[in-house]
Order: sequence, then structure tokens, then C-alpha cells
Amino acid sequence: MGKINLKKIVREEVARLQTVKVESDFPEDYVRLNMNENFFVEPEVISGLIIDACKEFDYRRYPDNLAGLAVRAISRFLGVEESMVYVGNGLDEVMNTLFRTYLRRGSKVLIVEPTFGMYSYFTNLYGGELKTVLLNPDFSLNVEQIIEQSKDEISLVIVCSPNNPTGNQFPRDDLKRILEIDALVVLDEAYVQFADYSMIDDVWNYENLAVMRTFSKVFGLAGIRCGYLVSNPEVIEYMNRATPPFHVNQLTQLIVKKALSMWSYFEGKVKEVIEERERLRKALAGLDGIKVYPSKTNFILVKIVKEGVTPRILKKKLMERKILIRDVSDKPLLSDCIRITVGKPEHNELLVSALEKCLES
Ligand SMILES: Cc1ncc(COP(=O)(O)O)c(C=O)c1O
Repeated sequence: MGKINLKKIVREEVARLQTVKVESDFPEDYVRLNMNENFFVEPEVISGLIIDACKEFDYRRYPDNLAGLAVRAISRFLGVEESMVYVGNGLDEVMNTLFRTYLRRGSKVLIVEPTFGMYSYFTNLYGGELKTVLLNPDFSLNVEQIIEQSKDEISLVIVCSPNNPTGNQFPRDDLKRILEIDALVVLDEAYVQFADYSMIDDVWNYENLAVMRTFSKVFGLAGIRCGYLVSNPEVIEYMNRATPPFHVNQLTQLIVKKALSMWSYFEGKVKEVIEERERLRKALAGLDGIKVYPSKTNFILVKIVKEGVTPRILKKKLMERKILIRDVSDKPLLSDCIRITVGKPEHNELLVSALEKCLES
């Protein structure tokens, strides 16, 4: 019988990794406030769009190479050159290509914490060295520390703004100071349309700026998987070299093209999310035992200030009531915090009354 000792052949970096845990696979009747999905976008609208796309799609053909169809649609939408756009199967895959392209073993990646977990995951996957600067206690950037740390030859600086899971957007001037660092500065704008401003136009001014976005949040297309990165053409060219042919399926490309052509519909949904976010913040602020942070995203960070109640306990109690939230207490500065996605009003009402009961008992 053929035998193999995989420990001898697996890449060392992979052997040290854990499989990324996701909490996405729950029965339909659970209220999903844990993944920052967008249920304001109506399923009939999306399925109409998908059916239209299917009619234009010849399944027998390979898709446009390097997601050319989606690249053209996105570049037109943003008013940038096609050569400035890279498209992948969700932003996570775009990041995978980015790190595969620009991270040598031992290269340094600077991130701020607490932030989105995939930056450290990809740094570890490609054998990079992680350098971490903590946010200030009010979640603002410690720009001095970031600049100090970057004297140490950094390949990538990754900043998420608005930041997941703290929910705040960093001031433009802070980001501009970070852009003076001699590194590729990657700005994750996954939630930017829920916030005040974008840095996307600055890709014309800073050749070391790469801005990343996704169709998972604002467009409610998390299941379709599409994300993109905008930067100067040289940044994109190397990423293209590190990409196998036909990596994004044609249906996804057609769907995002159609979604962009309906931007005013999605823009309306963004307004609804923001209104509901503020309503939910107010309702949560009325509960005893929690502190509610401001948000420029489609989720809200909440700190538990009631003795004897921990994020783990609260998450478990809510789950018993079929409501899912994210426990973020494993992250620095957030030991008492949970993250709640802004759901549809009826789901938020269920959450608020369940939370009230869980905090009482
Ligand atoms: C900050 C941030 N970046 C990237 C992603 C990944 O997005 P995608 O669904 O396009 O892979 C997420 C998803 O939650 C996110 O919160």
C-alpha cells in the first residue's frame, strides 16, 4: 500500500497555520449578524440580475482572461485606467495574490491592531514577518509609532479604513502621512461606501497606494465572490503575472458589471443601512450593561460593561435564541467586545430584546 509522510513535504508555513475558522454555515432560520453581510439588498433584484447574466453567458467558453470583463466595468465605473485594476474571487483572493506577489520569505508587513484577521494570516502563509502597532485606546491611529516602526524596511503596510472591527474611519491626513512611508501602502476600503470619504482618487497621486474593495458588503454579493484592487499599472502587472489564466468565472464578471450599472439602486440601500445603523445604535445605547461605539460601516462594536457577562457567554446565549453575533474579544484592546452587523429592522428588534434579556439574567 502506498504511504506518504506529508509532514516531510508540506510547506513549513502551512504546517504552522490553522484552517481559517468561519461561522457562516448555519440553518436558514438563524439571524445572521456575525458576518457583515448586507440583507438590505433584495434577493429578487439580485436573482433578476443573475438570470439576465445567465442569458448572456455561453458556458462552453472560457471566461475573459484576468477578469477582463469585470476589470473594464470597474475601471469605467471608477474613472481609472483598465491597467490600474486587478479583480479576484472576493477580496480575500485579491489579498492572496497581493501577498503572493509582493511578500518574500522574511519580508516585513506592518499592520495596526485590532483589525481584520486575514492580513496576519496571509503574512504567515507566505513566510513574512509581522510588525504590529496598536491603535490608541480611542481607536485612532498611532501615526508616530507606525512611522517609527517603518524605518525597518517594510514591504507592505496594511490599513483597513473604516476599520473592521472597530468601525471607525481614520482621518485622511493620517493616511497621507502613512503614504510617505517607503512601502506599498494597502488600504482596505471594504466598507468605505458606508463612511465619509474614499482615498481611491489618491492612486493618481501616490504610486505606492493600493486601494482594495469588495462586492460582498455594499452590493450584497458575498456569495458571488468578487473583490478588486486599484493601484498604479506596475503594481497590477506583477499581480497579473502571479495569476493563473481564467481565475474569475464569467458569470461573476457579468453579475458585477450589471450591478455597477445599477449603482443608484445600491446607493439607495447604503442610505437605508446607514439610517438603520443609527437607529440600532440608539436602541443599543438604551440598554444597561453595554457601551456602543460610533460606526462608519454596516456593523457596530459593542463593549460589555456588566460584571459576570463575557462576550463568550453573550454569544452563546444569543445563539440559543438563534441570533448570531461575532465575539471579537480575542483581539487586542477588545477583551470585552462583540461585533454586531446591522441587520434588517425586524432582525435588529429581535436582537435588541434578546440582548436586553441576556444582560438582565
Ligand atoms: C475588512 C475586510 N476586508 C476584506 C474582506 C473580505 O471580503 P470578501 O468577501 O470580498 O473576500 C472582509 C470581509 O468581511 C473585510 O471585513
